[in-house]
Amino acid sequence: MPMLKVPATARRTKNRGTNLLPAGRHLNSIASGRNLTIATTGASGSLFLQQLLAIVEHDSRVQTVNFIASDSSLRVMAEELAIRGRSNLVGQLLGRNSRKIRQQSNNDIGANVASGSYPNDAMIVLPCSVGTLARIANGIASHLIERAADVCLKEKRPLVLCVRETPLNKIHLRNMYRAADAGATIFPLIPTFYNRPATQEEMARQFAHRVLAHIGLPQPDAYQWNG
Ligand SMILES: Cc1cc2nc3c(=O)[nH]c(=O)nc-3n(C[C@H](O)[C@H](O)[C@H](O)COP(=O)(O)O)c2cc1C
Repeated sequence: MPMLKVPATARRTKNRGTNLLPAGRHLNSIASGRNLTIATTGASGSLFLQQLLAIVEHDSRVQTVNFIASDSSLRVMAEELAIRGRSNLVGQLLGRNSRKIRQQSNNDIGANVASGSYPNDAMIVLPCSVGTLARIANGIASHLIERAADVCLKEKRPLVLCVRETPLNKIHLRNMYRAADAGATIFPLIPTFYNRPATQEEMARQFAHRVLAHIGLPQPDAYQWNG
């Protein structure tokens, strides 16, 4: 895709409204339910998480979201979104309370998503720090985020890691390969420009649309390139 010059034919189009897009081997599992796990870690890009949560909050196909924030994510969210502390974190991010997004403690290794018996359909880590990537890639499941990711891998459920770091060293690259080899999707936190986003929020929203389409939840107002 061209990144600098936007062809005249580029325009916003409505997604055709199908409920499910082909998302490779993950299609069948997402078709059976709508319980998502969304985790956030201490990498830059809190705005992307905020937009993702806002979208799933409004998506009637999504019944439950188990939301987990690492300690470091709170530090980054304080810098980037002026979020204050862990108290009512979902309310702070959405600007209102949610009935479907349930915050789980990253220290609670006994939470629902720590077990493969809980019917989780997919997990997204946005943004995913290289520290969390390293732990997931190496099976170090000492906190709930890594344990829930580990469960996704062992149960062959979709796991999307929106890794953000630059530049990348060989350890990061190896860990991305390891995680991908174990079944995760490495979905780097890299937004698009050919859709000409007018604001940071729009840029982040379009990225979140792409992530959700990848797990079989295409959004009706997603940008679609038509060549
Ligand atoms: C403002 C700020 C921005 C950061 N950005 C990144 C980043 O983009 N990628 C990354 O891997 N780590 C980043 N870090 C460092 C991580 O927060 C740090 O390595 C932390 O231990 C990750 O912990 P976690 O994986 O448990 O969330 C950042 C830290 C701060 C304070």
